Amino acid sequence: MISIIDIGTLIGLAFIAVHLYKFLNFVYASTIRPSTNLKKYGDWAVVTGATDGIGKAYAYEFAKRGMNIVLISRSQDKLNDEAQKIQSKYPKIQTKTVAFDFNTSDDSKYESLYKQHLSQVDIGVLVNNVGISYDHPMYLEELSVDRINALVNMNVKSMIALTRLVVPSMITKKRGAIINLSSISGMSPIPFLSVYSGTKAFVHRFSNSLSVELADKGIFVQCVAPGIVVSNMSKVRKPSLFVPLPEAYARSAISTIGYERTTSGYWAHKIQTYLITSLPSIVSDKVMYDMHASQRKRALSKKKSQ
Ligand SMILES: NC(=O)c1ccc[n+]([C@@H]2O[C@H](COP(=O)([O-])OP(=O)(O)OC[C@H]3O[C@@H](n4cnc5c(N)ncnc54)[C@H](OP(=O)(O)O)[C@@H]3O)[C@@H](O)[C@H]2O)c1
Ligand SMILES: *[C@@H]1O[C@H](CO)[C@@H](O)[C@H](O)[C@H]1NC(C)=O
Ligand SMILES: *[C@@H]1O[C@H](CO)[C@@H](O)[C@H](O)[C@H]1NC(C)=O
Ligand SMILES: *[C@@H]1O[C@H](CO)[C@@H](O)[C@H](O)[C@H]1NC(C)=O
Repeated sequence: MISIIDIGTLIGLAFIAVHLYKFLNFVYASTIRPSTNLKKYGDWAVVTGATDGIGKAYAYEFAKRGMNIVLISRSQDKLNDEAQKIQSKYPKIQTKTVAFDFNTSDDSKYESLYKQHLSQVDIGVLVNNVGISYDHPMYLEELSVDRINALVNMNVKSMIALTRLVVPSMITKKRGAIINLSSISGMSPIPFLSVYSGTKAFVHRFSNSLSVELADKGIFVQCVAPGIVVSNMSKVRKPSLFVPLPEAYARSAISTIGYERTTSGYWAHKIQTYLITSLPSIVSDKVMYDMHASQRKRALSKKKSQ
C-alpha cells in the first residue's frame, strides 16, 4: 500500500526532476546548442523598427547569417544609412528599405505597405520589433490620449495587421518564422506602466495562441520578452551583467529561433524572468511598485529642474 509519505516523496522527486531538467536545458541553450539555419524559412528577413536598438541589431545578425533584409522604420535617411552600412559589411546581402509610420490604425496603409513592398519578396522571417513605451513611469490618468493610442497602434495593431498580411504566403510555402517582441514587463503586473505592460502581455498571449494555431503549417512563431537592453527606449546607456548591448542581445535571441516559443532571449534575462514570475505576487507587486514609483518621482523632479 502506498502511504501519504510515499506520495509526498514522489511529488517532491518529480518537482526536483522537472526543475533539474529545466536547469540543464537552460545551460545547454546558453552554451553549445547549435543555431537553426535560418535560410530554411526563406531568403528574406523583414524587421520593423530596424534602424536603432534591438531591431537594428537583429538586422545585422540576420545579414551575418546570410539573409537579405527588409528594413522598416520612419526615417528614410536613417534607413538609407543603415542599409548602406549593412551592404558594405556584408556585400553578398541584398537590402530593401521602407519608410512607414506604425503609429496608425489605418488598415489600408498596412495593405499598401504589404502590396507595394513585401508581396514580391520571399519572406522567411518577420520580426515585429517596433514598439513604444512611456517617457517615464506614470499613473494611467497622467498618460496623454495621444500616447495611449500610439502604444496600442505600435505595440498591438501593427503586429496583428502585418502578421495577418504575411502569414498566408508562409502557409502556402509551408515555412516561415514570426517573431514578436514582447517584454519582461508583459510577464508580470507593472504598476505605473499599465498600458505598456498590457500591450506586451497581449503580444505574449497572441503569439502563443498563433504558435499553436500555425504549428502544423510549418510556421514557427516566437514571443521574445527581453529584460532591459541598452537602447534609447530603455534610456540605459551602459551595459552590465543584466543589461546587454543590443548586438549581444540579438545574437543570443536569434540563436533561440526554432527552439524556444517563448523566451527572454538572453541568459541573464531568463534568470530575472524566472525570479519575477515565481515570487509570490505579494512580494513581486511590492518590488515593482516601489521601483517604478521611485523612477516616476526621479523623472518628475528631473523635469522640474530643467
Ligand atoms: N530596450 C529595452 O530594454 C526593451 C526591453 C523589453 C522590450 N523591448 C521591446 O523591444 C522593441 C525594440 O525596442 P528598442 O529599445 O530597440 O527601441 P528603440 O531603440 O527606441 O528603437 C526603435 C526603432 O523603431 C523605429 N520607430 C520608432 N517609432 C516608429 C514608428 N512610429 N513607425 C516606424 N518605426 C518607428 C525607430 O526608427 P525611426 O525613429 O527612424 O522610426 C527605431 O528604428 C520594442 O518592441 C520594445 O518594447 C525593449
Ligand atoms: C501618433 O499619432 C498621433 C496622431 O497622428 C499624434 O498626435 C501622436 O503625437 C503620435 N504619437 C507618437 C508617439 O508618435
Ligand atoms: C505574433 O506572432 C504571430 C505569429 O503568427 C502573429 O500572427 C501575430 O500577429 C503576432 N503579433 C502578436 C501581437 O502577437
Ligand atoms: C539613440 O538616439 C540617438 C539620437 O537620435 C542616436 O545617435 C543613437 O545612435 C541612438 N541609439 C542608441 C543605442 O543610443
